[in-house]
Amino acid sequence: MPNEAPESRRPETRWFHLCLADNLASPNAFVTTRVGAVPLVVQNIKGRVVAFRNVCTHRFAVIHGEPAGCGPLRCPYHGWSFDADGLPVGLPFNPTDFQLEAEGRRRLALHPASLARCGRLVFVRVALDGPSLEEELGADLFARLAALSDAFPHRGVALEPADGWERIEAANLRIHRAPDGALVLHSAAPDGADSRFSRTVTLYPATALTTAPTTADAELPA
Ligand code: FES
Repeated sequence: MPNEAPESRRPETRWFHLCLADNLASPNAFVTTRVGAVPLVVQNIKGRVVAFRNVCTHRFAVIHGEPAGCGPLRCPYHGWSFDADGLPVGLPFNPTDFQLEAEGRRRLALHPASLARCGRLVFVRVALDGPSLEEELGADLFARLAALSDAFPHRGVALEPADGWERIEAANLRIHRAPDGALVLHSAAPDGADSRFSRTVTLYPATALTTAPTTADAELPA
């Protein structure tokens, strides 16, 4: 329903802010969340950042149990590991225990999720079909968030938002902008997720420091 407010739709059909692209810049870096009943993981696999349901297709164990970290996309149960297309590529004892050939592996590929980027902000959605992030946020807000996130590349001392700061809201993301130029980003845990999946970061503008940014972006959707 095109004019339906995102908040009134099922959580699985909505975009949720997850993290900064910086968090996924390193090989094997991952960030997880939960939307409704569905665990999601976004992971850097050999420079590609991809989104899947965080559920092993063998016996449905959760693959990454932590909200964020660095490690291969490998199920802790029987040790299957998955590539950037979600295919199981490392199967210990495959010849004796699983005997999976190419077709069997394809059938057991991880279920993909939607991934979108707005500047350095990374968003995920369970559903593969639906409005783009820009359509959901609106072109003006999308452009504003992209410009703001790109202009505030430095992490710094955490700040508590105060009265009089500008406030911007987009999906589960609340941004407070201090008059003197800091940006506090707070992402509430999506519907169905506990508070482990809420995240807050304080960023400072490019002009606030003389040192070069210490983070680089990985390959993410434009
Ligand atoms: S449940 Fe994941 S490898 Fe068996």
